[in-house]
Amino acid sequence: MKVWVTGATGLLGREVMKALRTVPGLAVTGGCWSRRAPECERVDLTDVSATEAFLNRFRPDVIVHAAAERRPDVGENNPDLVQALNVAACRTLARWSAEAGCAMIAISTDYVFDGTKPPYAPDSEPHPINRYGESKLAGERAIRDAGLERGCVLRVPILFGPTGDWAESAVTILARKMLDASAGVTLEMDNWAIRYPTYTTDVAAVLRTLVLREREGKGLRGIQHWSGDEPFTKYTMARVMASVIGFDPARLQPVNAPSAGAPRPKDAHLITTVEGIAKTPFAQAVEQVLRGTPNV
Ligand SMILES: NC(=O)c1ccc[n+]([C@@H]2O[C@H](COP(=O)([O-])OP(=O)(O)OC[C@H]3O[C@@H](n4cnc5c(N)ncnc54)[C@H](OP(=O)(O)O)[C@@H]3O)[C@@H](O)[C@H]2O)c1
Repeated sequence: MKVWVTGATGLLGREVMKALRTVPGLAVTGGCWSRRAPECERVDLTDVSATEAFLNRFRPDVIVHAAAERRPDVGENNPDLVQALNVAACRTLARWSAEAGCAMIAISTDYVFDGTKPPYAPDSEPHPINRYGESKLAGERAIRDAGLERGCVLRVPILFGPTGDWAESAVTILARKMLDASAGVTLEMDNWAIRYPTYTTDVAAVLRTLVLREREGKGLRGIQHWSGDEPFTKYTMARVMASVIGFDPARLQPVNAPSAGAPRPKDAHLITTVEGIAKTPFAQAVEQVLRGTPNV
């Protein structure tokens, strides 16, 4: 069975590639754009003809769609980019998949919700409050409207995972800020928004399960959720990371008000619907990530 993983050079996509390559009988190819990686094809997903040409040549049986512009502040200022990558590319992939009988498993976000009435089930009413969330919801709807018979949308919250650059994740970037802080300086950290940091290695295991279910003809449909269940703020995540990197937690200052930039939901906790995958405790997973990278 041939699997194409878009966003294979990204934080999540790299773990998905690792998880799928261990499965006998799967031929896995990645999609990349500005970065290069082994067994990845450079395809610009914002270019409809280039994307279709690749799909017609490679003819995947399953697409795991992880490519996106996922930074809310970048999205807020680049409406054309988020429209092309987060919405139109979903439409292109979903239409091709519907026609070819390919299964498409697309990653979406808890930011489709406004965070006022957690926890959220897949059929809870979405109400995004920033352009990134709006674009991801529009991408979900483009997939639904394509009439796909196989596949699902998997919503996940804030991600962290193995990386050579802590700035790649909104979680580990806090450790980067601590290491970069001049001696004696106090760092303000958001203590308002509740987040459920979720480990990309665990999400990759979920996606491997979803791909294997497609192979068995028992794939999940519609919208699914998978989320860590430990509530943190950026301030409390930073305190956990401070102990790993040797930063004095007394230098962290909680801020109990929304942060500047694109609006964020207060608490968009997702109710997990994909059963059977263990959730690595945050402290354990983040320590593995911080100790496994060359940043310390
Ligand atoms: N990170 C989070 O906290 C978070 C939270 C909730 C949901 N999500 C969702 O999870 C998924 C994965 O996110 P991530 O954190 O892994 O993202 P990421 O690390 O920012 O990676 C983005 C990926 O998209 C690729 N890409 C960018 N522009 C492209 C283009 N024009 N054509 C083809 N590929 C392109 C990038 O390729 P190059 O690097 O080669 O340019 C990269 O592989 C996304 O759907 C995101 O919305 C993420």
